[in-house]
Amino acid sequence: MPAILAATVAEVRAALADFRRRGQLVGLVPTMGALHAGHAALIERARRECGCMAVSIFVNPIQFDRREDYEAYAIRLPDDVALCESLGTDVIFAPAAEEMYPAPQSVFVEVAGLTDHLCGRFRPGHFRGVATVVAKLFHIVAPHRAYFGEKDAQQLAVIQRMVADLNMPVEIVPVATVRDPDGLAVSSRNRRLSPEERRAAPALFQALQAAAQAVASGARSAAEAKAAALAVLEACPEIRVEYLEVVDPATMAPVEQISGPVRIAAAVWLGATRLIDNLYCPAVAR
Ligand code: PAF
Repeated sequence: MPAILAATVAEVRAALADFRRRGQLVGLVPTMGALHAGHAALIERARRECGCMAVSIFVNPIQFDRREDYEAYAIRLPDDVALCESLGTDVIFAPAAEEMYPAPQSVFVEVAGLTDHLCGRFRPGHFRGVATVVAKLFHIVAPHRAYFGEKDAQQLAVIQRMVADLNMPVEIVPVATVRDPDGLAVSSRNRRLSPEERRAAPALFQALQAAAQAVASGARSAAEAKAAALAVLEACPEIRVEYLEVVDPATMAPVEQISGPVRIAAAVWLGATRLIDNLYCPAVAR
């Protein structure tokens, strides 16, 4: 079935109004396009759970901390529309930047605390841009449920907090990270890796697994878990570590002692490509 392709706020609202009149639950998968298997997992989950499934495709200029990254971001709308339609999407909202930001934005959503560490520390303004555009999308689409990947764990936490603090009537549904057979988390950035970098990239997941294994085997200090991960990463000359942290999953703040569940999160560079990944480690009985 062809999806309804809406380019304006008025068009997407009109398209969704029909579904709402019929009492359908509206699910939204917000994306920046260049869709891959990770997005497909979000869309499939939304399709199973919602009578009306909408995907937004919008490369959001205000979440890029480097202008050149925004300008280089791959736009593949025909391929993205084809994938969305093959997965049964009802409505695709693909606005131009001028539609989302007809005037310079002067209202922003700032989620304090949760954005102090990890990517928030290295990408100033990034989460402010993400939270602001997601808030706008929620106002435009008014979904009952919205689906986000756990690969971007800090983004997910930021959005959950925004929704809670601003009493937004939307349920946030986390979806597990999709991985290639060698463990590399799927990401639109993987396409930018050279063949050598792609061969080295699974070391990121292997490093997180090594840290998680250390925790499962009784490591109680973050330093010990991090050392296990760094040993894997340091064996890969192609990889430069931006951060590697053991954090409290609720606050995203680094911990020194491991006394409950933690998330191990890392960002690394392979050449000019930045990859992130994380693993949740449940509390280990003492
Ligand atoms: O994860 C993404 O693709 C983006 O950050 C999002 C949530 C669509 C906001 O632009």
